[in-house]
Amino acid sequence: MKMIPFGKVTDYTVSRMGLGCMSMSGVYGPQDDGECIATIHRAMELGVNFLDTSYSYGQGHNQLLIGKAIKGKRDQVVIHSKSGAPPPKDENDTNRGAGGEKYLRMICEESLKRLEIDCLDILCMSRVDREVPIEESVGTMARMVEQGKTRYIALSEASPESMRRAWTVHPIASLQFELSIFSRDPLEMGNLDCARDLGMGFMAYSPLGRGILSGQVHSSDDIPEGDTRKNYPRYSTENMAHNAKILAKLEAMAAEKGISLPCLAIAWVLHQGDDIVPIPSSKSRDHLDDNLKALEVELTPEDLARIDEICPSGAVAGTRYPEPMMMRMNV
Ligand SMILES: NC(=O)c1ccc[n+]([C@@H]2O[C@H](COP(=O)([O-])OP(=O)(O)OC[C@H]3O[C@@H](n4cnc5c(N)ncnc54)[C@H](OP(=O)(O)O)[C@@H]3O)[C@@H](O)[C@H]2O)c1
Repeated sequence: MKMIPFGKVTDYTVSRMGLGCMSMSGVYGPQDDGECIATIHRAMELGVNFLDTSYSYGQGHNQLLIGKAIKGKRDQVVIHSKSGAPPPKDENDTNRGAGGEKYLRMICEESLKRLEIDCLDILCMSRVDREVPIEESVGTMARMVEQGKTRYIALSEASPESMRRAWTVHPIASLQFELSIFSRDPLEMGNLDCARDLGMGFMAYSPLGRGILSGQVHSSDDIPEGDTRKNYPRYSTENMAHNAKILAKLEAMAAEKGISLPCLAIAWVLHQGDDIVPIPSSKSRDHLDDNLKALEVELTPEDLARIDEICPSGAVAGTRYPEPMMMRMNV
């Protein structure tokens, strides 16, 4: 496994690809806990040492699962644990808040208990809270570092301005942001450049666009009832009819190269910079094995240009989240 230093703030050396664990908690269809734990163990055996979780995934199920999986192996992994968010107060609640001291302290203590560890490796605020100044949220997290509750702190979906303001209070280890062939915001809106300027690590989440680039989804009918993606604009019947045409061209390109579509999609993310750590999620060992093959894929400048031609900026129909959730991105 290729290992890289994770930004300039931490002393961690992490695998070039991490493992997102969200889908192991029923977010995209049902899961089998035994297979999920076996998937985490297989990832570790193959050299993956970076796990991503959140207080909110599966209402605690995800952290409990990881706690079980890493028992006796704690020193072999770096855990990036996010704060999640309280449930919306009502349908007009487009902020939800996750930056207040009471909430951040509560989720930190609960996360430590669920994971059965004494100190988090990286505590990440999932969303910048528009109602709490970022300096205040980061101040709270900085005190958790002083108190030995977490070694480092991080941000997700933060704008360049928020990152710079956060840094006036405490060094920020990393930024986690959605990045895939279908979602290029951090490349186009300056988040990645800003993270690099500040010496932060960068985690690319949903590198398979929540499964749209997995080869498993060709129409909105492929999304089972009860799956959160049913409400996501990108997956609506109308938008999927458009997006499926782009997917067909990418699938043809992957087939020509003798790799799967997910492999091509993850390889594209890896080619956006040696310092970017994609964290695809999978609840099965088979898919994990396939995704890790992306580390061996060489994309030429011609390949990258062809992907841009097939899927230029703005070509994908439908936003990456529903409108109320979009209000919480890049804040
Ligand atoms: N910071 C944030 O706000 C945020 C938001 C979303 C996600 N994340 C993090 O990023 C991680 C990854 O994002 P994600 O889970 O949204 O989506 P993703 O990794 O883009 O896609 C996951 C989906 O693709 C499928 N898949 C994965 N590999 C496959 C393969 N080789 N062949 C076929 N299907 C495959 C998975 O199904 P199977 O499980 O069946 O393999 C799952 O349905 C999450 O686990 C989470 O840790 C962070």
